[in-house]
Amino acid sequence: MASVRIREAEEGDCGQILRLIRELAEYEKLSDQVQISEEGGGPGCGGGGRGPPGPSSGPGGRTPRPLSLCRTPTSAALRADGFGENPLYRCLVADLPPAPGDPKGPRVVGYGLYYFIYSTWKGRTVYLEDIYVTPEYRGQGIGSKIIRSVAQVALDQGCSQFRLAVLDWNQRAMALYKGLGAQDLTEAEGWHAFRFDREAMRKLAGK
Ligand code: ACO
Repeated sequence: MASVRIREAEEGDCGQILRLIRELAEYEKLSDQVQISEEGGGPGCGGGGRGPPGPSSGPGGRTPRPLSLCRTPTSAALRADGFGENPLYRCLVADLPPAPGDPKGPRVVGYGLYYFIYSTWKGRTVYLEDIYVTPEYRGQGIGSKIIRSVAQVALDQGCSQFRLAVLDWNQRAMALYKGLGAQDLTEAEGWHAFRFDREAMRKLAGK
């Protein structure tokens, strides 16, 4: 395997992370749901997110104020929400050293974006929102490395579990998670994931 390094993302990685977010959405055939964009904002809060649940509170119990409050997220929001005063998510990236003479610097070939949620039954929990490795680097252990690093973060932060959601047709990803020791909660306990999107929220809020 090429000498891939797993490290905490920095603000300057957001452009490359955004590129990979789009690739993952395309892979999941859900590109139409990606409301995050390079520039500017659109109207209102996105229904957003590819899986359950959304971030709630951090490990310290504070509820951070989203910097992109009710705005369609942009790459600026990705930066502000991840690297501002009260980060809403954290991200690990897998990067490759640049080829000799390449001025562009390390190339990000994978990422795992996660945040902290709270279970009333189990306490502190890490939720892995996205994991993605670019096609040419798959099958070399990078995804497993990212997952192991997330597990390490979860343990370091006193979490009792680390959760994620995957689409039902994505059997290869499911096989990977099971192989690494995860339990399928739909199979085991019958959970269904629900979401209120913007319109539903507006109706509920009478707006
Ligand atoms: N292509 C190749 N292998 C895959 C794929 C895929 N699209 N999806 C899952 N895998 C599994 C295979 O079981 C493979 O095992 P095998 O080599 O015995 O067939 C295993 O991943 C390989 O393990 P790693 O090399 O550690 O994983 P990799 O670096 O390929 O990363 C990942 C795994 C992230 C799933 C990657 O393959 C990928 O980005 N796939 C497409 C996007 C995707 O499905 N992301 C997960 C969505 S769910 C979520 O984000 C919470």
